[in-house]
Amino acid sequence: MLPTDPFSFGVSLPGGIPTRYDNHITRRLSSMPGQFADQPAYAAMLAQEDVLLYEVYEIVRPHVAGELLHGTSIVHPGQVGKEYFMTKGHFHAELETAEVYYCLQGAGMMVMETPEGEWSVQELRPGRVLYVPPRWAHRSVNTSHDQDLITLFVYPGHAGHDYGTIEQQGFRKLVVERDGRPQVVDNPGWRPPAARS
Ligand code: PA5
Ligand code: NI
Repeated sequence: MLPTDPFSFGVSLPGGIPTRYDNHITRRLSSMPGQFADQPAYAAMLAQEDVLLYEVYEIVRPHVAGELLHGTSIVHPGQVGKEYFMTKGHFHAELETAEVYYCLQGAGMMVMETPEGEWSVQELRPGRVLYVPPRWAHRSVNTSHDQDLITLFVYPGHAGHDYGTIEQQGFRKLVVERDGRPQVVDNPGWRPPAARS
């Protein structure tokens, strides 16, 4: 039974693990085929080891509009070719739902876009709050070489996840390392919405 009374919990750093949670989700390299631009680098890395890219600790709530799902997201440092480790990214299945992120640790970027192809990339660093408005798909990218990117997220209980759209079309922008620094570049594999069948 999920609690109906108020509750509180802590988040210890550097781990980012809440002192109470219901679900621990782990995503490895093998769960993101076709998502990293450098496919030979992806295949070579996967042949070596199915690396752990990120983890999510969820405080589960009923999937209804009045509830708020929340938890922590922990993206580990690393790169596939020149592209930083990142989350799968998704639209919310209920498109008209927003999300708030609070960055607790590390350095990164949130890559966002709408179904119409508008895009935005915002920096994530400790103490910054990021608002993802309704309709915007979102993906967190860890641009640090040695630190986990840890964020606290909160979104409506009925939002749901649409992973399929991003799996098919990717994001319009990629975050890659150039001259030792993160750079936002066009994704050569992305097609504008009008060109999609
Ligand atoms: O709800 C969110 O947007 C986050 O909790 C993400 O689910 C989390 O960062 C993991 O990313 P994804 O769900 O795209 O795998
Ligand atoms: Ni979300």
